[in-house]
Amino acid sequence: MTSRRDFLIGGFGAAAAVTVAGRGGVAVAQNTAPAASQQGDIAAAPYVAGTAERSLDIINLFDLEAEAEKLIPRGPFGYISGGAGDQWTLKENVRAFDDWQILPRYLAGVETPDTQTELLGSKVGIPIFVPPMAAHGLAHASAEKGSSKGAGDAGALFCAQTLANTPLEEIAKADPGPKWFQLYYTKDAGVNRELMQRAKSTGCTAIVFTVDLEWAGNREADRRNGFAFPASLPFPNIPNAPTGVSLAELFQIFKRDLTFSDIDFIAKESGLPVVVKGPLTAENAKECIAHGAAAIEVSNHGGRQLDTVPAAIVALPGIVDAVGPDIPVFLDGGVRRGVHVFKALALGARAVAVGRPTLYSLALGGAPGVTSMLQTLTAELQLAMKLAGCAKVDDITRKFVT
Ligand SMILES: Cc1cc2nc3c(=O)[nH]c(=O)nc-3n(C[C@H](O)[C@H](O)[C@H](O)COP(=O)(O)O)c2cc1C
Repeated sequence: MTSRRDFLIGGFGAAAAVTVAGRGGVAVAQNTAPAASQQGDIAAAPYVAGTAERSLDIINLFDLEAEAEKLIPRGPFGYISGGAGDQWTLKENVRAFDDWQILPRYLAGVETPDTQTELLGSKVGIPIFVPPMAAHGLAHASAEKGSSKGAGDAGALFCAQTLANTPLEEIAKADPGPKWFQLYYTKDAGVNRELMQRAKSTGCTAIVFTVDLEWAGNREADRRNGFAFPASLPFPNIPNAPTGVSLAELFQIFKRDLTFSDIDFIAKESGLPVVVKGPLTAENAKECIAHGAAAIEVSNHGGRQLDTVPAAIVALPGIVDAVGPDIPVFLDGGVRRGVHVFKALALGARAVAVGRPTLYSLALGGAPGVTSMLQTLTAELQLAMKLAGCAKVDDITRKFVT
């Protein structure tokens, strides 16, 4: 078993990490942490993440994980990269994209595909956004300031989170681009109200209500590593949030018996469109819409919650059909390739979100790193659109996949 102390030793190593010449395009990092015996007792030391700020030369998004692993300490890396249980859903999220093939339409005269689209009234440059992920400070010292700026600079919408290490007001300052706010519903209705009002006054245009984490999933990497969120990386958007605790301990402040009526409450209190994040069945999605949801984000939390639920791309078409053409449906989970984005859009997603590669590219290059990652994915999408014969995002329809 790895002890909590090892995790903190890892944290020290991240501070000392340097980058050296690249392999295959992505910068390679070397961890220069001194041996534990040289460090003395650093268990109480503040968490120190990397500070690199640079563009990345990325061949593909899969390469980022191994490079980021060299920089991010073991405990936080396990928390970011890991899934629940046997990690079947985690792997299936990527694999299941292969069950669909693209049917190109040649001679369509497409030269420069247009990736712009509109997400719940916000104009964006690309149909790719950054989903809510807790504690960006684990990846980089700039935390959500870096990731939101990186997203904005790539023309992508950023979803700020309840469990950010950065106050919402500072995220808004760092990224003037379109933003949503993800709500973890606390047991205190007053805190929920205040969070939604702050989100609104800092320019967030929708509330993303995550419904698949009333209880933390069985994250075995976290148990092996004794992972706890570092006490020095607080969650400033929730008053009196516990610090230095595990995910399961942290979740004691959130409501466990969520129901459909909570959607009604959020819609009424916030006055913003509510995106329910997590439905995997048509029936569940339809009921969310009946209770005031404006959109659905098909998601299995990146395979981190209930293992063996279907891949997001498997659940998507049934939900799109069930809610009908007027309800926007988004997808996250396993999106790593431009052809994945293309397939999700063809199956009816309005946009997709990319989780872990955002944190890996943040660790490797700060805001410019995140921009590089999103630009790499966008370039792959544009190539797929050119080769398949789609001039704009709305041209990508179901006839393009089988
Ligand atoms: C480190 C990490 C933390 C996450 N924290 C949250 C969170 O606070 N709220 C939430 O709704 N989803 C959270 N998620 C799930 C993501 O929003 C998204 O569903 C998932 O990362 C998509 O899968 P992908 O990483 O394969 O792209 C988290 C995911 C990761 C990797």
